[in-house]
Amino acid sequence: MQIAKKDLLKFHYWYYNSVLQNRKIVNKFIPTERIVIHPGDCMELLKTIPDESLQLVVTSPPYNIGKEYEKRLKLGSYLEQQAAIIQECVRCLSPHGSICWQVGNYVDNGTIIPLDTVLYPIFTKLGLKMRNRIIWHFEHGLHCSRRFSGRYETIIWFTKSDEYVFNLDPVRVPQKYPGKKYFKGPNAGKYSCNPLGKNPGDLWIIPNVKSNHVEKTDHPCQFPVELIERLILSMTNEGDWVFDPFLGTGTSIIAAIRHKRRGAGAETLPKYIMLTKQRIEQELAGTLKTRPMNKPVYDPIEAGNSLIITPWTTNKKGAQMVLLEKPNKKQRYAVR
Ligand SMILES: C[S@@+](CC[C@H](N)C(=O)[O-])C[C@H]1O[C@@H](n2cnc3c(N)ncnc32)[C@H](O)[C@@H]1O
Repeated sequence: MQIAKKDLLKFHYWYYNSVLQNRKIVNKFIPTERIVIHPGDCMELLKTIPDESLQLVVTSPPYNIGKEYEKRLKLGSYLEQQAAIIQECVRCLSPHGSICWQVGNYVDNGTIIPLDTVLYPIFTKLGLKMRNRIIWHFEHGLHCSRRFSGRYETIIWFTKSDEYVFNLDPVRVPQKYPGKKYFKGPNAGKYSCNPLGKNPGDLWIIPNVKSNHVEKTDHPCQFPVELIERLILSMTNEGDWVFDPFLGTGTSIIAAIRHKRRGAGAETLPKYIMLTKQRIEQELAGTLKTRPMNKPVYDPIEAGNSLIITPWTTNKKGAQMVLLEKPNKKQRYAVR
């Protein structure tokens, strides 16, 4: 019997991850294990984690906006709850470790409160030092009619000390002008930029997980795996613990496994615990489909997608309806 190359590869993946690396999923924190999913409240799990044992805490908490998995609270009570969890995370964090809290806006009666602005003092009061406020820009989301549609969220990154892990090389991105050379001075003629690529900066353009995204599940607000891969590769080393108090579909653990780190976290809702387990099993078997890190964002115009041309206009490539500066009753738009 002939075994297909792809099945052989899958077997290798599974054998490496499950047998050689002993990657079984356990439900309580044991420092020698590699994958922990606690089915319940994150505080219960945090209480069992020894001091200074986590290298990276990365999460996206509920935003208190009334999603199915959260009870909407007064902003003050929500912040008190967050503060208690953050305090426990800081206790468990290694002196060389990092915390990344990914948040958007809390919306109260049409008024927005960017959550990073109200969470910032909680972190600094605990002695943490802010290293970056990363803007995560994406294109899909609600269309607002009384304000501009929100197309970014932030990741606030804090470290426990000045001696923190930061590995830039694994997350460098291609240079814009890789062939640029020094044109004078002692290095004239030599390439002027780092051949490994450039620092990705603090504005990250990564598609969010909406309808057509290859990673989409039933969860309403999943992290894209590539977002967390960049944080894990730069802020941890192999074998370190990555912890996510609000697991959702387990993206943080998936990114940790992919890069030979340990992953732990908690999730309260059984349907998401099940999704997390399924996705982790798929990751271990090498069958989880994800969008690759650093893949350029799809551009419908470049791709020649026919939907950019309105069917009732000419066939001009790239034609779009534009709003007229001086519309009249008969005509509000023109084709350009
Ligand atoms: C914003 S989602 C996180 C999604 C996640 N980043 C992902 O990639 O799938 C927040 C998750 O936290 C869970 N949750 C809410 N309160 C929790 C708590 N106290 N302990 C653990 N999980 C909680 C919710 O059920 C929800 O799935």
